[in-house]
Order: sequence, then C-alpha cells, then structure tokens
Amino acid sequence: MAAFTFIAEGRCTDMSGGSVGNHSALMDQVYRRQRHIYDLSRKYFLFGRDRAIRKFGLKPGERMIEIGCGTARNLIRIARSYPDAKLFGLDASQEMLRTARASLVHAGLDRAIALTQGYAEKLDRETFGPSAFPFDQALFSYSLSMIPDWRAALAAAAEAVKPQGTLHIVDFGDLMGMPGPARGIFRAWLRRFHVVPRSEILQTIEKAAAGAAGDLWISPARFAFTWRVSPKTMKGLLLSHVAQGSQGS
Ligand SMILES: C[S@@+](CC[C@H](N)C(=O)[O-])C[C@H]1O[C@@H](n2cnc3c(N)ncnc32)[C@H](O)[C@@H]1O
Repeated sequence: MAAFTFIAEGRCTDMSGGSVGNHSALMDQVYRRQRHIYDLSRKYFLFGRDRAIRKFGLKPGERMIEIGCGTARNLIRIARSYPDAKLFGLDASQEMLRTARASLVHAGLDRAIALTQGYAEKLDRETFGPSAFPFDQALFSYSLSMIPDWRAALAAAAEAVKPQGTLHIVDFGDLMGMPGPARGIFRAWLRRFHVVPRSEILQTIEKAAAGAAGDLWISPARFAFTWRVSPKTMKGLLLSHVAQGSQGS
C-alpha cells in the first residue's frame, strides 16, 4: 500500500527546527499584518475551498472542526450552508484568531462557532472538551502546507473523528502541471510565508489502492487538490508509513 514517506517524525518543529512554542510565534509573525488582507488576497489562489464545503453534507447536530481555521472564512461559509451543525475552529496563531473572532461577531456567529488556540499536532479530547469529542468531520484547508509535522496532525485528526466520519483536505498540489521556472518562482514565494506544498500527500493518494483513495479532485496544473477520506483509510496510510520506516531502519 502507498504510504506517506516524508518529513520528520515524532516531533513538532517549525521549519527552522524550533519547538511548537516557536511555531505559534512564527505564525503570529507571518499573519500580524497579513490577516488584514488575507481573505481578500487569498480568494484569487486558494482554490477548492468552496468545492470542498459543498461536499460536507453535514446533518443537524453533527460536529465539524476546521484545523488551522485562520480568519474563519471557511467556518462562516460552512455555518451558512449547514446552519444546524456545530462548528469548531483551531489555530496556532492568536493573531489569526483575533481576526476570526471579529469576523464571527460581524457575521453574528460568535455564539455559534467555538474557537481556540492550539496545535493541530496535539488535537485531542481536551482541545474543546469531552462534550465536543469526537467530531463527525474535520477539515484541513491550506493548513497542512504550514503545519510542521503534518503527519502527526493527520494522525491526531484521524483519532479525533468518529470511525464513520470524514476527513477533508484542501491544499496546494505538487504544482507539476506548471512550467518549471514558474513553479520554482511560486514555491519560493510561498516559502516566504512558510508555506510548503506537501507534494507527498497528493502523490501518495494517487498511488493508493483503487477505492482506498477516497474522493480526490485535482485542479488544472496540479495547483490544488481536494480529498475526502475516511479516518480508517488515513490511519492505514499513516501506519503503513511507520511499517516501511521500521523495515528500513
Ligand atoms: C494558509 S492559512 C489557512 C486558513 C484557512 N484554513 C483558509 O483556508 O483560509 C493556514 C493556517 O494554519 C495555521 N497553522 C499553521 N500551523 C498550525 C499548527 N501547527 N496548528 C494549528 N494551526 C496551524 C496558521 O496559523 C494559519 O492560520
């Protein structure tokens, strides 16, 4: 079976090798000013977000968490599409959460959506309290490309979602449909914001056994993708990575 084979394991570091504590500060630094223009500027290139939201099919009372929720742009759209769902947003950056809280107040949704500061890699039943746990669905929207130990974040989410629930990922693809020079320039520009497309994820999904890959959509130029998958399949891919790693050691 295909498996995720990239990135350091068992630790939670930022891209400069610091601790998770530093990662929160790093995200605050990235977004302190950007948060004011984030929604306006990102709508031109963060493709696939609304496509993913249309597929949630959340039923009344079901619980959904967005991991790396940023400004709450997605949570507000989800609340409008599924007004009877219970929504939760987790983010490492207090700066982004400041904008998120203001946006929820503006949308009249501040009582309907719970937000908290924390790390995707450490998501557990204490994050929003036992009454919120487990979730029916979880969304990573352009957050895995910023989460240092994205495999740990996927593992935590797979544990935090009910067995019959769904994980959704929307993010940059491997960009392999772009001309080489343009791809290099775009990757370098993303790195300035500490964004690293996780090419490994898309390539692993494509290699996964037919039917195990869940529901995958890839945009033109392989710029972005959306993926809908069960926690069981996700755990299988992650475990298979661990098994391959131990054989190789
Ligand atoms: C590019 S923004 C995406 C925001 C939103 N999901 C969207 O689609 O517009 C990535 C978000 O992930 C958050 N983030 C990065 N690393 C994180 C981590 N380890 N745990 C939780 N959130 C994290 C950042 O603070 C930022 O708000």
